[in-house]
Amino acid sequence: MRPEGKVPSRAGPPPPAGAGAGAMSGREAERGGALCLGLLLHVLLGCGSAQQPGGCPAGCECSEAAKTVKCVNGNLTEVPPDLPPYVRNLFITGNPLRRLPAGAFAAQRLAELGALNLSGNHLRVVEAGALSALPALRQLDLSGNPLASLSPQAFGEGGSPLEELALRGALRDQGALLGLAALLQAGALRNLSRLELADNGLLLLPAGMFGALPALRHLDLSNNSLVGLRNVSFQGLGQLQSLNLSDNSLGVLRNGTLAQWRGLPALRRIGFGRNAWVCDCAIEDLVAWLKESDQVEGKEALTCAHPEKMQGKALLKINASDLNCSVPVDLPSQLQTSYVFLGIVLALIGAIFLLVLYLNRKGIKKWMHNIRDACRDHMEGYHYRYEINADPRLTNLSSNSDV
Ligand SMILES: *[C@@H]1O[C@H](CO)[C@@H](O)[C@H](O)[C@H]1NC(C)=O
Ligand SMILES: *[C@@H]1O[C@H](CO)[C@@H](O)[C@H](O)[C@H]1NC(C)=O
Ligand SMILES: *[C@@H]1O[C@H](CO)[C@@H](O)[C@H](O)[C@H]1NC(C)=O
Ligand SMILES: *[C@@H]1O[C@H](CO)[C@@H](O)[C@H](O)[C@H]1NC(C)=O
Ligand SMILES: *[C@@H]1O[C@H](CO)[C@@H](O)[C@H](O)[C@H]1NC(C)=O
Ligand SMILES: *[C@@H]1O[C@H](CO)[C@@H](O)[C@H](O)[C@H]1NC(C)=O
Ligand SMILES: *[C@@H]1O[C@H](CO)[C@@H](O)[C@H](O)[C@H]1NC(C)=O
Ligand SMILES: *[C@@H]1O[C@H](CO)[C@@H](O)[C@H](O)[C@H]1NC(C)=O
Ligand SMILES: *[C@@H]1O[C@H](CO)[C@@H](O)[C@H](O)[C@H]1NC(C)=O
Repeated sequence: MRPEGKVPSRAGPPPPAGAGAGAMSGREAERGGALCLGLLLHVLLGCGSAQQPGGCPAGCECSEAAKTVKCVNGNLTEVPPDLPPYVRNLFITGNPLRRLPAGAFAAQRLAELGALNLSGNHLRVVEAGALSALPALRQLDLSGNPLASLSPQAFGEGGSPLEELALRGALRDQGALLGLAALLQAGALRNLSRLELADNGLLLLPAGMFGALPALRHLDLSNNSLVGLRNVSFQGLGQLQSLNLSDNSLGVLRNGTLAQWRGLPALRRIGFGRNAWVCDCAIEDLVAWLKESDQVEGKEALTCAHPEKMQGKALLKINASDLNCSVPVDLPSQLQTSYVFLGIVLALIGAIFLLVLYLNRKGIKKWMHNIRDACRDHMEGYHYRYEINADPRLTNLSSNSDV
């Protein structure tokens, strides 16, 4: 969609007649006459209608030679319904479009339209079928729109030939992200070779999002907030050449992800810079892979962000002795050993207690006797008092049992 060359002629609404007349004053009469004739022709050829015969919508600049139409920073609230049929490069940017309805381009039969730039149009909604019936569309830029909803059927029922899709700073809403994931997974963009998802603040990617992109070559996920790639599958991206993950919050990458990258035959450039690598035991696999892999760009510059005592250390310079990994930190087994230890200690205490009892058995016996005697004396005192005011039969009974 890179605009090649400038748009040479401004063919918007024709200049008002007054301006031309003012410029003429003071010039020779014959030139003035020619201008008058020109103005007359202009009026005859439809000065009053919205569109000139050459065909350029109000508020846009058109160049037939460059096959380009630009409707930039205007007040358009909808896609102009009268785009010239030759248009190959269409820029509608910086307008308050807000929503792209179904069939926004369909009625105009834009058979040549190859590059469509819709960035910065305050788009919140892209409806089903909004981008259908564009048989030549190769590049689409939807960046800088605060998308809240992106229909999985935005390109219509059949597949789209789209090759480049830019969604920079356009997926801050989870709804739009899920819509994109569904759209990609449905296989609507099987020819897509470049996907730009930078600047979106993405934390996690929907599982299986890249599962149906067999032609993808360049994937840009830089400047997001990705914390991990545990659920992201890169399988099936047999053409992938570059993957940009710089400026994210990655702390560690698992063996599964590394193995997938190892298996991608075309992957030659992985951008990893400015992440939040956590240099503990779990990073061993990543370090080992980094040392052997030549896929990572600028791997010498990668440094640990945590823990504090490893901060700033180059990932490539880490060796096992830095990581304290020899003792496996296995909580359940640790707990088990501590329970066994506790049991042994309790058993020992019990045994000592019994031993003390045994050694003191004579003293204890004596002590028990003393207690029994004391009790008996006490009880007899009670009996005595009881006998005084109780039934004689009961007194007999109790004194019998006492003996
Ligand atoms: C689309 O237009 C914006 C604004 O003019 C520009 O920054 C961007 O580079 C264009 N996209 C493409 C793919 O050319
Ligand atoms: C857009 O509309 C505003 C007011 O609605 C007006 O002031 C401004 O001139 C318009 N801009 C263009 C490029 O037409
Ligand atoms: C994808 O590209 C191939 C080869 O360039 C082409 O034949 C096919 O029609 C394209 N797919 C779509 C859906 O346009
Ligand atoms: C990164 O993305 C944020 C939005 O998430 C944006 O404001 C910022 O400008 C981007 N940074 C760069 C360097 O592009
Ligand atoms: C990964 O996927 C599983 C199920 O597929 C889900 O339960 C889990 O929450 C996901 N984890 C992340 C970090 O997305
Ligand atoms: C990761 O893979 C490497 C080699 O492929 C292997 O040596 C290592 O044990 C694996 N790590 C884990 C945690 O499975
Ligand atoms: C990734 O993107 C950053 C800018 O966000 C750029 O500086 C870097 O060169 C890119 N890396 C790759 C491998 O594309
Ligand atoms: C570990 O790395 C340090 C430098 O960071 C080096 O001095 C030391 O010899 C290395 N130890 C082993 C066992 O490789
Ligand atoms: C490794 O463990 C020892 C003892 O637990 C500790 O003193 C040392 O600081 C640890 N080193 C690192 C790099 O974590």
